Amino acid sequence: MEGLIRPHGGTLINRIIEGKEREELAKKAKGLKKLPLNDREISDLEMIAMGAFSPLEGFMGKEDYHSVMDTMHLKNGLPWTIPVVLSTTADVAKTLKAGSDVALVNQNQECLAVLHLAEIFPHDKEKEAFQVYTTKEEAHPGVKKVYEMGEMLLGGKISLLKRTDYSDFSEYRLDPKETRALFKEKGWKRVVGFQTRNPIHRAHEYIQKCALETVDGLLIHPLVGETKGDDIPASVRMLCYKALIENYYPKDRVALAVNPAAMRYAGPKEAVFHALIRKNFGCTHFIVGRDHAGVGNYYGTFDAHYIFDNFDPAAIGITPMFFDHTFYCKRCTSMASYKSCPHDSADHIALSGTKVRDMLRGGQYPPPEFSRPEVAAILIEAMKGAK
Ligand code: ADX
Repeated sequence: MEGLIRPHGGTLINRIIEGKEREELAKKAKGLKKLPLNDREISDLEMIAMGAFSPLEGFMGKEDYHSVMDTMHLKNGLPWTIPVVLSTTADVAKTLKAGSDVALVNQNQECLAVLHLAEIFPHDKEKEAFQVYTTKEEAHPGVKKVYEMGEMLLGGKISLLKRTDYSDFSEYRLDPKETRALFKEKGWKRVVGFQTRNPIHRAHEYIQKCALETVDGLLIHPLVGETKGDDIPASVRMLCYKALIENYYPKDRVALAVNPAAMRYAGPKEAVFHALIRKNFGCTHFIVGRDHAGVGNYYGTFDAHYIFDNFDPAAIGITPMFFDHTFYCKRCTSMASYKSCPHDSADHIALSGTKVRDMLRGGQYPPPEFSRPEVAAILIEAMKGAK
């Protein structure tokens, strides 16, 4: 699409098979060996098929897998920081043959896609844990997921036959080609993408609006794939995002769509991954704030900024916009960051996630300098239901 940023690798991948080809492949799939996928694997499958993981056309083979872990680049030289792999047990792997097709099915045994199985190779879980997440501790939610996966990996292109019929917030499920069309229609040339797995509080709002001052449009792009149990459910967050946009954002400069990927909690590595995904969705800029995609104390507050120094900016393509820790300052009487505020932290309104959660659970509104009351009201209501 002319005028918009090019997808990673130059071409927006489309592995969604339609028409006659689909009919024929679906027929063939009936006779294939079936491999059931869980929700997380289905999310990866759909991200690949719709081009959100361009240039990937399928689950990674051995060379790409190790190249990504060892060098943060695919074997073709493109930056890439997170393995996208499909695993199975050693027993199942023994029944499969490289060079054959496999039907990828959901829990109801419905065929979603065909995997054109090219390679079967060992899952190097400890290496993946350490190289991607920088820790081998199972306490890390991303590492835990890696350890739970099978010991063999299946690499190969995929052909998607059936999209999952998501009933939740379907109008916000835009594929990369749809967000690209939307930006074109709105006449936005410079679009900043915002990743989030949380309700948007004033600090998030501030960095989004600072970024928006210098570009044409803002894509609020919450991740709604699998998150860890104590993160706020996507259905509740979506209500918060809508209320916030309704009350505080300029409608002609903001778009809301969802990123159906699973959260990895890989901090800096995931920041690059998140940026590349947003490039595929058509964003030219991407916000990276404090401890992006972090969890616990596994990453330094600004490691997700520093990691971009390892790459050729032209190869990354999308421009990261880095933000320091932001907060409301009582003496500045405005939102600010350590970069722009000269006052002592005693003047700052900063609340820990745990403190905010406790307040909301007790039906108490956090200060309006921390969270918009419309957002707090939705969260208080949701916490009542969750008790
Ligand atoms: S994340 O896992 O998706 O990164 P979160 O939804 O909390 O978590 O953050 C969304 C984005 O806002 C990230 O880029 C993060 O770095 C940034 N961010 C969150 N809180 C702050 C803050 N107080 N100051 C600056 N950036 C922040």
